[in-house]
Amino acid sequence: MIEIRALKPDEWSLLTKTSELEREGFHESGLTPDSLALMARCGILLVFIENNQIIGEAILLRYIQENSALLFSLVTTSASRRKGRAQQILKEAFKHLSSHGIEKLFLTVSPDNEGAISLYTKKLGFKVTQNLPDHFGPGKHRVLMEKIIERKQESLSQ
Ligand SMILES: CC(C)(COP(=O)(O)OP(=O)(O)OC[C@H]1O[C@@H](n2cnc3c(N)ncnc32)[C@H](O)[C@@H]1OP(=O)(O)O)[C@@H](O)C(=O)NCCC(=O)NCCS
Repeated sequence: MIEIRALKPDEWSLLTKTSELEREGFHESGLTPDSLALMARCGILLVFIENNQIIGEAILLRYIQENSALLFSLVTTSASRRKGRAQQILKEAFKHLSSHGIEKLFLTVSPDNEGAISLYTKKLGFKVTQNLPDHFGPGKHRVLMEKIIERKQESLSQ
């Protein structure tokens, strides 16, 4: 059984498991459960649950700039990669963003992360808008991307 849903900031057991996933994906930069609780409170922390295990997560934060958001984090477990899970999480994320009136989603990614860049540009329609040299510190370059979030279709009967 699979489920993609937003975690609440008091779901400590699931926040701890999501933190373990963060560590798997980002090592020492992975978010702790308390930071994840904050993310769940001020943004949207989406988790992909399969057979009672968290196998993926995405964090969305609203930009101060009007009607836009930032994809702050995206990870799937190494055992579940290349099966379309990240695409499923992000497609669910686009629906959440659309329902909150968000029109544009930004992200940054390392230029060395070829898999993630392919996912964003070839599978999900993100466009590269800027190179950000030394963005995360000397030699730690990032690439800025954005995607227009389509508005939900209005019901024809309305
Ligand atoms: C990037 C990441 C989220 C992708 O998750 P995933 O569940 O494997 O992605 P999906 O199965 O939905 O999408 C697969 C597509 O993404 C791209 N892709 C993902 N990993 C890839 C890799 N190692 N090499 C090449 N392309 C890759 C391809 O376009 C691939 O399509 P294909 O299988 O038809 O070639 C996952 O590898 C991960 O968690 N990495 C560690 C954390 C990270 O780097 N996050 C992104 C930070 S910006």
